Amino acid sequence: MSQLSKNLILVGFMGSGKSTLGKKIANKMQLPFVDTDEEIELRLNRSIPKIFEEFGESHFRALEQTFLEQFPANFHGVIAVGGGMPCHNNNLDLLLNLGTVVYLKRSPKELYQRLIHAKKSRPLLSKLNPDELLQYIESTLKLREPNYEKAHHILGRDEQTVDAVLRIISPNSE
Ligand code: S3P
Repeated sequence: MSQLSKNLILVGFMGSGKSTLGKKIANKMQLPFVDTDEEIELRLNRSIPKIFEEFGESHFRALEQTFLEQFPANFHGVIAVGGGMPCHNNNLDLLLNLGTVVYLKRSPKELYQRLIHAKKSRPLLSKLNPDELLQYIESTLKLREPNYEKAHHILGRDEQTVDAVLRIISPNSE
């Protein structure tokens, strides 16, 4: 199997499965895996909800930007990116320069099904009731999707498997 020629960067809305798929791909390719939320949590020694509560969203966005600006040039692996990262500051350009960006596209209804029981760890969602959650997903996805869709590749639900991603990003691999 051939190696990835560049970093693989997974972007998409909360709940689209970036970290789960990213870890599987990294495992299969025996490459390091980075989750931007986990790295920021480690640096601040606080969970994402705690960071939002103590410092607010705009501080979190600044942390995301600094994280990307300081990202080690010699890293070679798979990166799962917080859902809002490509939609703030100059992060999208930084990501597009850092490697092959893949958007894991999901419909609002699918995202709702995946997020309804996974709101607690996500400060932007945790206080929303089910109706508000669906509305938030629909309206925020509409705003964010133009950014997500600037990815090098856009994968629909059925293509979001390890083998399909590897085929798409390195078509000559076995
Ligand atoms: C956010 C997504 C989260 C995390 C934070 C904000 C967003 O990451 O960065 O709660 O604005 O979409 P996941 O996409 O991994 O849930």
